[in-house]
Amino acid sequence: MSRVDSLFQPVTLDKLTLKNRIVMAPMTRTYSPGNVPNDLNVAYYRRRAEGGVGLIITEGTCVNHIAASGYPNVPMFYGDEALAGWKKVVDAVHAAGGKIAPQLWHVGAIRRPGVEPGGDTPGHSPSGMARPGKVSGHAMTQQDIDDVVAAFAQAAADAKSIGCDAVELHGAHGYLIDQFFWEGTNQRDDAYGGDLAARSRFAIEIIRAVRAAVGPDFPIIFRYSQWKQQDYAARLCDTPEELGVFLNRLSEAGVDIFHCSTRRFWEPEFEGSDLNLAGWTRKLTGKPAITVGSVGLNADFLPEDGTANFKAAEPASIDNLLERVERDEFDLVAVGRALIANPDWANQVAAGNFDSLAAYEKDMLQKLA
Ligand SMILES: Cc1cc2nc3c(=O)[nH]c(=O)nc-3n(C[C@H](O)[C@H](O)[C@H](O)COP(=O)(O)O)c2cc1C
Repeated sequence: MSRVDSLFQPVTLDKLTLKNRIVMAPMTRTYSPGNVPNDLNVAYYRRRAEGGVGLIITEGTCVNHIAASGYPNVPMFYGDEALAGWKKVVDAVHAAGGKIAPQLWHVGAIRRPGVEPGGDTPGHSPSGMARPGKVSGHAMTQQDIDDVVAAFAQAAADAKSIGCDAVELHGAHGYLIDQFFWEGTNQRDDAYGGDLAARSRFAIEIIRAVRAAVGPDFPIIFRYSQWKQQDYAARLCDTPEELGVFLNRLSEAGVDIFHCSTRRFWEPEFEGSDLNLAGWTRKLTGKPAITVGSVGLNADFLPEDGTANFKAAEPASIDNLLERVERDEFDLVAVGRALIANPDWANQVAAGNFDSLAAYEKDMLQKLA
């Protein structure tokens, strides 16, 4: 048995069985004109499934709310045309032996008026702030909150009905759900603001509504991060105890799998232990966890200069990753840019062909078309 085999055994996580532990990380590409997935999108995902990925998590796809979208040409997850496009993606991934979960998304205050769909609608968020202390949009009313909760539930029901294998809720990176979690952008004085328990209420309502919409057996993945795109050093929880309380509330609401977004998977989350964020999440909740962040690459993805260019990176050793998989620190491993550069990354790694792996270059997304 070769060392990489630990990544390439079938794995059953309660409600989800996968042919291996490799997950395609969600990556926005803005290549769906009219906000509808097209044949090029189908081919893009099919190639990654053919390339051996066990589970594809799609690019962020917006739920049906007027202010959900923050970038042009992002595929929506509502409307007959977009759902028919997604169904083609799902069928192609299944035909290639893979599984797929859409990443359901609302950008919150990151939205600027003018992005379609949504026209002049301003960004919607807990306190109208994309950044701490700076009001730039609309503070959500109870009606807005109820509408967004219902939109996530409807999207999840639609995902199930077109044959998706799970859904992922985007609760990370300083977008809407995370804007509620983060004290910096949640200054509400109603039941949705205050301590972290209150700031989690919005997420919990979404998770419960999604669970009610999809039934008990359909897997719900929840992605979260300590860091925010607005502040890489931000943290929701400073200790394992706080993290345990935070995550167990989400777990009890209905999360099956946590996707723990970090930029560098090898970094310990708290002093005094080697465990990374996914390792702690699994230990504290008993739920399966996905790790992510520079797997197989020598540099993390976010630029320090605040530009939108995702960083280029060279292939790097996965020895540290394999050690952690062998120690059973986490369950699944998400790969981002390396899968843009190498659609067959999983098959190449399974075969030990490390020398044939290409570097990730900044303009690769554009070249994919
Ligand atoms: C081009 C690009 C687009 C991304 N879009 C999303 C997204 O839509 N949703 C999300 O949760 N993360 C997104 N991310 C973050 C990735 O899912 C992943 O966490 C990050 O790239 C780190 O993995 P990597 O180092 O293997 O690339 C994106 C990253 C890149 C490079």
